[in-house]
Amino acid sequence: MKIAIISDIHSNALALDKVLEDIKNFNPDKIFCLGDLILAGYRPNYVCQKILELKEKFKDNFEIIQGNTDKMVANCTPELIQKTKEAFPCMGYSLEEDVKITDKKYIDFVKNLPENKYVEINGLKIQLVHGSPRSQNENIYPELTDETVSEMVKDSKADLILCGHTHKPCGYSLSNGKTVVNAGSVGRSMTKDKMPVYLQLTIDKNGKFFVEHKIVKYNSLEVSKHILARGFKHCEDLAKMFLSE
Ligand SMILES: [Fe+2]
Repeated sequence: MKIAIISDIHSNALALDKVLEDIKNFNPDKIFCLGDLILAGYRPNYVCQKILELKEKFKDNFEIIQGNTDKMVANCTPELIQKTKEAFPCMGYSLEEDVKITDKKYIDFVKNLPENKYVEINGLKIQLVHGSPRSQNENIYPELTDETVSEMVKDSKADLILCGHTHKPCGYSLSNGKTVVNAGSVGRSMTKDKMPVYLQLTIDKNGKFFVEHKIVKYNSLEVSKHILARGFKHCEDLAKMFLSE
């Protein structure tokens, strides 16, 4: 059983297309998507449409949960825009524009997604979360201690917890027997080279699994230009995030 796990696409059409091409070669039985389809990219409607097409194609073999930025766009208020502008200006101005350009049918789609989900495959219990099992906004970063991550996942009933949110791929084999893997980000990777990342998971008939991050190369400069072309205030700060360090 092969599963491709994607997360944090953030309206990045080019990154999604490149990752989906790579996933085609992997030829998975299932696809899981861990949320943050939209906010602060350049083609939210295209990305949502592609995800709905995958859902249609894979039917029961497609799982998706909501990310924190899906929720921000879906439940957006003038107060939230103001608060976000104060905390993180380019995100706040992007939010204001994204709410205007995203079709209502896609906003309704992300609004109604569950925050987390359990899936069982060959006896292996998997939990899909965006941040951590206890919060959509909690960060499972690289270089945390076993103790810290164990505390974050202690109420999960899963053997394997799959998360995203931080845009930084990482993984933990915890002393409590659980495995936690952060899939990284398709659309706004925070790795050094800013290249899209997704997960390839293989599970055997006894529930034993093997998981690895797959890096996909693409033209991040082109995406940076698309972001600049949107022209909202502080979009240059957002555009810079796509360029390698
Ligand atoms: Fe995200």
